[in-house]
Amino acid sequence: MESQNMASKNGDFSGGCACRGNCGCNSEKYAENKGLFISFEGIDGVGKTTQVEALKKHLQSLGREVVVTREPGGTDLGKSLREILLHGSFVSSRAEALLFAADRAQHVAQVIRPALSRGAVVITDRYIDSSLAYQAGGRELTMDDVRTLSEWATDSLWPNRTYLLDMQPEAAFERLHREQDRMESAGIDFQRRTREAFLDLAQESADRYRVLDATCSAQSLAELISSDVNNLIAQIESK
Ligand code: TYD
Repeated sequence: MESQNMASKNGDFSGGCACRGNCGCNSEKYAENKGLFISFEGIDGVGKTTQVEALKKHLQSLGREVVVTREPGGTDLGKSLREILLHGSFVSSRAEALLFAADRAQHVAQVIRPALSRGAVVITDRYIDSSLAYQAGGRELTMDDVRTLSEWATDSLWPNRTYLLDMQPEAAFERLHREQDRMESAGIDFQRRTREAFLDLAQESADRYRVLDATCSAQSLAELISSDVNNLIAQIESK
């Protein structure tokens, strides 16, 4: 699968002032747009964490408030749910979907919406698409059910941009240098179905998604992503 070619224009975010509008710059307009919401997705082991950190540094260098968070486990309640979801024993498919949705509901209410309403950039390591890819693609639940559940949980808050780091599950698994958790130990076929589901979702929502070849160097991926985010910010600023 060929990764989508991302724009290489080096966007210049002239509204990068941290004043949130107090000095009369463009930031006020930005805050009115309720910040910027970015998610990173992909199967386990594709290197999302490295790219999340690189993008955080890039945005901070532009003077933006950046909130980095993740699912499951972006809140105290979420940390307890994460323990059950990743390190507990048997969890039925429907219970699993509900627990991920509960984690997301709390995450949105407690962390994501408040940050967006301050005009911050929120970068989350996994969000709704993980539920769609893992619980519907990987397990046997339907896309419609999982989407309805997550939209209810989040009151239909979707990211402005989703970066899908894509690679073969076999190669991704070689990168995991730790004991596998409950999801990771579901097997290579499960990861294959999940990867295919992510790629289908990216095709369905081509405006929101950018698909990147996760076998490229971390440095080149970071450059592509920061350039794309610069363009996205410039687009929002020009509205
Ligand atoms: P984590 O250790 O955070 O993995 P990674 O570093 O790869 O993101 O574990 C999260 C696991 O939970 C991962 O296997 C994907 C899975 N997951 C779902 O199945 N559904 C979801 O909605 C979310 C958010 C994660």
